[in-house]
Amino acid sequence: MTTATSGRTRLSGVVGTAHTRVEGRDKVTGAARYAGEIPFADLAHGWLVLSTVARGRVRAVETDPVLAMPGVLAVLHHGNAPRLVTDYAGLMGMTPDPTAAVFQQDRVPHVGWPVALVVAETPEQAREAAEALVVAYDEEPHDTELTADHPDAHPAGGVMPAETGKGDLAAGLAASAAVVDAEYTTPEEHHSMMEPHAATALWDGGRLEVVDSNQGTTWIQGELASMFSLDASAVRVRSEHIGGGFGSKGLRAHQVAAVMAATELQRPVRVVMTRRQMFSLAGYRSPTTQRVRLGSDPDGRLLALEHRSLSRTSSVYEFVEPSAGVARVMYDADAHYTANHVVPLDVPSPTFMRAPGEAPGSFAIESALDELAERLGVDPVELRLRNEPEVGPVSGLPFSTRNLDACFREGARRFGWAGRDPRPGVRRDGRWLLGTGTAAASFHSGAGPSTATVTAQADGTFTVRISAADIGTGARTALTLVAADALEVAPDRVRVRIGDSDFGPAMIAGGSMGTRSWAWAVTEAAGELRERLALGVTVPPEGITVRSDTTAALGTLAQKERHSFGAQFAEVAVDTATGEVRVRRMLGIFAAGRIVNPLTARNQLVGGMVWGISMALHEEAVRDRTSGGLYAPDLAGYHVATNADVGDVQADWVDDLDPDDPVGIKGVGEIGVVGAAAAVANAVRHATGVRHRHLPIRPDRVLSAASAGGGAADA
Ligand code: MOS
Repeated sequence: MTTATSGRTRLSGVVGTAHTRVEGRDKVTGAARYAGEIPFADLAHGWLVLSTVARGRVRAVETDPVLAMPGVLAVLHHGNAPRLVTDYAGLMGMTPDPTAAVFQQDRVPHVGWPVALVVAETPEQAREAAEALVVAYDEEPHDTELTADHPDAHPAGGVMPAETGKGDLAAGLAASAAVVDAEYTTPEEHHSMMEPHAATALWDGGRLEVVDSNQGTTWIQGELASMFSLDASAVRVRSEHIGGGFGSKGLRAHQVAAVMAATELQRPVRVVMTRRQMFSLAGYRSPTTQRVRLGSDPDGRLLALEHRSLSRTSSVYEFVEPSAGVARVMYDADAHYTANHVVPLDVPSPTFMRAPGEAPGSFAIESALDELAERLGVDPVELRLRNEPEVGPVSGLPFSTRNLDACFREGARRFGWAGRDPRPGVRRDGRWLLGTGTAAASFHSGAGPSTATVTAQADGTFTVRISAADIGTGARTALTLVAADALEVAPDRVRVRIGDSDFGPAMIAGGSMGTRSWAWAVTEAAGELRERLALGVTVPPEGITVRSDTTAALGTLAQKERHSFGAQFAEVAVDTATGEVRVRRMLGIFAAGRIVNPLTARNQLVGGMVWGISMALHEEAVRDRTSGGLYAPDLAGYHVATNADVGDVQADWVDDLDPDDPVGIKGVGEIGVVGAAAAVANAVRHATGVRHRHLPIRPDRVLSAASAGGGAADA
């Protein structure tokens, strides 16, 4: 650990040392309460009713029999619900997903669309009545099938450009010594975090209170205020503990339905999603179909690169899984083309899911690079090192820091990559074929405007208040360490309070930007407070409070390409008689800025890598063409990697200090999953000689590839 001081970054203190979660004891003893279990007097319970048809109109909601059932208080639906404002600009300037703006129309755009809320005295009564509610539909034909040549596909980039391009692709490919031209697909994937979405809404003295589980309390406060035409100061949103978010815990149907019902009944109303409801109401990752074309000189230097991705959205909301964005940062070529397209279908709206774009995009391009390496006879690590760009390939901007070469060198050393025999299908351990694979990772690093207050109390302790969200990342603990260093006190004198919109505007827990954004605001407020206290003032009983706002500071940041980077390595064992793939070990080495708390940061990175194993081998939501719904939308039918699927997974990092951040942070939330599935697929190729371009690498795919005896699995 270095003790040098450079610029505004202080490199001594507790930042960079391991600390268990400050709320860890509360969580494991059950003292920490989650949104769905906080008690309220006079609480009523709402149960959402979802459409059973994939497209059409609600003809009738037969409320009378249900209203006569025990404990039932109300049935809200499009025929009686209050009108909402839905044409406002919400997060990142986007209008809200109509799936959250419940009961505004009789149109049903997909299976699992919210058509009613039944409210009753108990959850059991609400559920029984909701299941008894008869809804009649006028059905229409639906289309849920993502095909590469779908006529409704169109360019769309979300908040990024849909397409980028430079140079002559055909000429670049024609001049290349080796060319890869391949199509890769990834399936529909769901976050389905451990804690389901849950919200309780109530009116308290003319103010709307919402106790929720979300990734940003001031975000949800703003959305609800806009939707219900309220002043933001009349809405308070709290979200103290969150059992996972991964991009899914934004504005959703449960909060809006709870507010509607609480307003209607003038008593507290709680709405909790069931696990099955989450599979249509909580967002998910769209399936992707991607085409990658690479051409290089004999040494592997890229002359031509094309990455095209097609994803799927709902017919009511345009969310793009921007998978073709990875190459804009990772690799340059004279001819360089990327394109994200989307096709609206009669399916639930997809959304942000951990490393949106990068997770499926890195599977395609990092697999394609592995194919190129094999064709050229160049080592896959060496191929990537030879293609390290000087500046952002599309932006032309300098990198804030990159250090991808350091990640590969350190990773290769620790993994034991040197001397790897590139020949596929030649290593055996009993019935297992063994192989190793590698892939690069990157994810955007940034900071969003945030405010924080730090209060010095008369007893010598400090309280930090910031509307941050700890979705399991350890953000609360990281901010405790950051505040302690900025105040130059021990962390046990600092209490960090988060998850309350009354603490003022702050960045959401999203885009791997949460901890960096909040740490910046906390550092500024704490630093100013320390300077004031250094003057020898006596702290009055009410304390001394300093407030910060990073909006201005962020506005003066130099234009740079800001990303975290990483190198993933995997070793697999494949039983071609059963089709089973085991990931024996994985190593990820990351350049992800200053690591605030090694314990929780490693947890983030390893969690992402485990998700990569899951993506490579297990996860796949299968949509039934006839009904438009999913087969088995639950955690029995939707497979995820569990303990027995995960071998030795290690994550570590190289020195990488962001020079433009007061703490040196970049962000670790998402990069762990990026490249992980490609590393596993590349290892499977090395083990078996079969290239899997379609995820997940299921046993039946391994088996049919083995029996076909081919070099690539076709379906
Ligand atoms: Mo993340 S997918 O930005 O929560």
